[in-house]
Amino acid sequence: MRDIQQLVSELTLDEKALLTSGASMWTTQGIDRVGIPSVTVTDGPAGARGPTLPAIGAQVPTLCIPCGSALGATFDTELIEQIGNALGHQTRTRGARVLLAPTVNLHRSPLFGRNFECYSEDPVLSGHLAAAFIRGVQSHGVATTVKHLVGNETEFERLTIDTVIDERTLREVYLLPFEIAVREGRTLGIMTSYNRVNGSYCAESPWLLRDIVRGEWGFEGFFVTDWFAGATTEGAAQAGLDLEMPAPARAYGKFLAQAVTQGRVDEADLDRAAITLLSVFERLGALDDEPMASHPIDLPEHRALARRAAASSIVLLKNSPVAGTPLLPLRTQDLTSIAVIGPNAERARIMGGGSAEVRPHHRTSILSSLVARLDETVVVRHESGGSIDKSTPMIDGGDVMTDTGSPGFHVRVFDGTPGSGVELTTFDRPDGRLLLAGRNEPGVPTSGYHFIADGLVSVAHSGAYIVSLVQVSPCQLSIDGRVVIDGVTETPPRGEAFFGMGSEEMTAVVELQAGRTHRFELECDAGNKQWVHGAQIGLAPIETGDPIQRAVDIARQSDVALVVVGTTNDWESEGHNRRTLALPGHQEELIRRVAAANARTVVLVNTGAPIAMDWADDVAAIAQIWFGGQEMGDAVIDVVFGQQDPGGRLPMTIPDTIEHTPAFGNFPGEHGQIRYGEGLLIGHRWFEARQLLPRFPFGHGLSYASFDVQEPRADNLEIATNGAIDGTGSLSFSVPVTNEGERAGAHVVQIYIAPISPRVHRPLQELKAFAKVHLAPGETTQVRFELGPRDFAYWDPGDAYRNALQPQVTGERSFRTLDRSGRWVVDPGLYEVRIASSSADIDHTMTITIHGSNITD
Ligand code: BGC
Repeated sequence: MRDIQQLVSELTLDEKALLTSGASMWTTQGIDRVGIPSVTVTDGPAGARGPTLPAIGAQVPTLCIPCGSALGATFDTELIEQIGNALGHQTRTRGARVLLAPTVNLHRSPLFGRNFECYSEDPVLSGHLAAAFIRGVQSHGVATTVKHLVGNETEFERLTIDTVIDERTLREVYLLPFEIAVREGRTLGIMTSYNRVNGSYCAESPWLLRDIVRGEWGFEGFFVTDWFAGATTEGAAQAGLDLEMPAPARAYGKFLAQAVTQGRVDEADLDRAAITLLSVFERLGALDDEPMASHPIDLPEHRALARRAAASSIVLLKNSPVAGTPLLPLRTQDLTSIAVIGPNAERARIMGGGSAEVRPHHRTSILSSLVARLDETVVVRHESGGSIDKSTPMIDGGDVMTDTGSPGFHVRVFDGTPGSGVELTTFDRPDGRLLLAGRNEPGVPTSGYHFIADGLVSVAHSGAYIVSLVQVSPCQLSIDGRVVIDGVTETPPRGEAFFGMGSEEMTAVVELQAGRTHRFELECDAGNKQWVHGAQIGLAPIETGDPIQRAVDIARQSDVALVVVGTTNDWESEGHNRRTLALPGHQEELIRRVAAANARTVVLVNTGAPIAMDWADDVAAIAQIWFGGQEMGDAVIDVVFGQQDPGGRLPMTIPDTIEHTPAFGNFPGEHGQIRYGEGLLIGHRWFEARQLLPRFPFGHGLSYASFDVQEPRADNLEIATNGAIDGTGSLSFSVPVTNEGERAGAHVVQIYIAPISPRVHRPLQELKAFAKVHLAPGETTQVRFELGPRDFAYWDPGDAYRNALQPQVTGERSFRTLDRSGRWVVDPGLYEVRIASSSADIDHTMTITIHGSNITD
């Protein structure tokens, strides 16, 4: 154990300041003189990617778990803790001590681009899953950074948008998962968000960081900025930010040292940051680390866990009888032929896009997993039904080869401008993503160079192809010696790819022949000073005929049609929101026409967030399969054929139309602001308050088993309160649940509280607890719950809220100037405790009485 106070007192001002900034994209600064090592961090949350940029530069494979919303759908804290455990282990093998996860922003609008990364619309579900994940990860000497604090629920103007939100909503909804992550999960890190909240950047809000998170919740870990987020030196230091990432420093590091010297920042604030960081590193054991290489591990138990998690996340939304029996699970013995249809059948989409992307150890696709599972006598037919690519798909390693026969392109890097220069280094890249990141790649300078990548492309069928380039620096693409796309002479405008660094897509139509190779050569000018250079090359055949008709034809010839629809990591990604709930391409028509051709049609929805399901009444069975991680193909087949129960329940409401959703009209933001106008009524609370019928309600999901949820047995139906949450009373009860079906299955008991005649505006019901039980046929279990005063409380913002509305009183419309008289309040009265199987399916209610007096009168 090192004495951290003592260690910090031995550091010079410059050394202390250095500690608060990054050394590179993924490492903190070490101080050799006193033996403080640099610490490596890695994204999160889909896996431990290691110290590489998402989808840029060389990628090392890692375990890819199901996306956040899939994990949300498991409602299973035990499973999520095991997932956390696996990721903690993976993080250590990547030489890292910090995992940039979990993401606990909420599904406020179904169109938020990062919903797939976040667990749920519900703060309590998100918080408890996050706490479980954190416990698992941190048991390996790895710190989590729960992110992004707070109000980060749009990608519109994402680095500057101002989230306008009232304090009660902030406390009861958006801060709550962070609070649970701190109090229950004991996270050692928190990442502040890019956005502002009511005018102040989160990284420099003393009210959020110092008063609430540290002061009220007792957080002892470190605050780190989001990558390249803005903050002022003085503001961040006073608020209590500890670490600015990544390098080069913008507000901290040498700028913090200068600010202390010039008296703009108190040295005590710098000391506190250095002590906090080093104390966490000490707790992790990181201060004794030798430099660690990254050794990816691919363990059978991690694969098995990822598969179980993917199956546990699948939500069976609908399962109608066809000829008297529910369509799912399919019985192999009844099957002679099956049509596997849809753009995502052959290439299952296992993760969303952006910083959460990893290179998986391997991928499973629904089509290949199905073929592997079925007897050879069963005829499997496949049609994609049409493309849904947002842009031309990248050339795959299987279609291109270097002169020496390796898959991919051979890259030669030269000094100076195109046409000249000394060769600096060469290497191969596995596919058409030819992006080089100077600071991250051995032998590649940050600027002032150019590179040539060439490969031999072969195609299966002769004909017309679309070839495309999305560039981050000027590039030219030639095929067989002829320039076909020139992004040098005519620079395209910026697009959305690569976090907004990429250009809009440039395309050309070319004729390619089967049976020969075509030489593709990309020349890229990397003269400018920027941290990534290069381009992505895409290639796709031009579609001919009617792909939907081909799908209908095979559906008609087969016993069952399995239709895998969805989005991709381009449609659902960090960096931009979705524009509509509609499935991309012509997938809705595909579903309708296939269902008309075959009554035994199962639709599998491969997305991270809800899509419109106007076709839901036309098909017999629907399952939401999310972005299920690397084992998704096998997990889906496990559920479709009944080896696993579909364990998932909806962690968000699936609406009928976007106009019915709570954020409609207040999303994605405009004029620099996004207003949380629906206040407390996030998700199902809005649908209930406005009496709108969703397509499928929050918490819904069918099982192959059937459960009898019996009357709860309460120890007490009355509790006493002193009006505040430190009152002594609590309510305990147990719920007997029996599996009355013939198969093993999982049930989620959901507990909602509904105040009867509340004194203030409250949602009609709020989820307060949940438990997942796995039961064998005939088995009964008692599920135990305990609810405390806080579960019945609301936040009274006191004077703070009134001051916020009167800028002339405080002089400035900012949280920083508000007084602190807000508090949690429990009103006496009657409350309904609902034991439910979904927000719309209540099994039992208990009316309980809270005695006491109002403290706010
Ligand atoms: C994301 C973070 C991520 C960071 C590092 C940012 O763009 O918002 O979630 O951890 O990049 O990749």
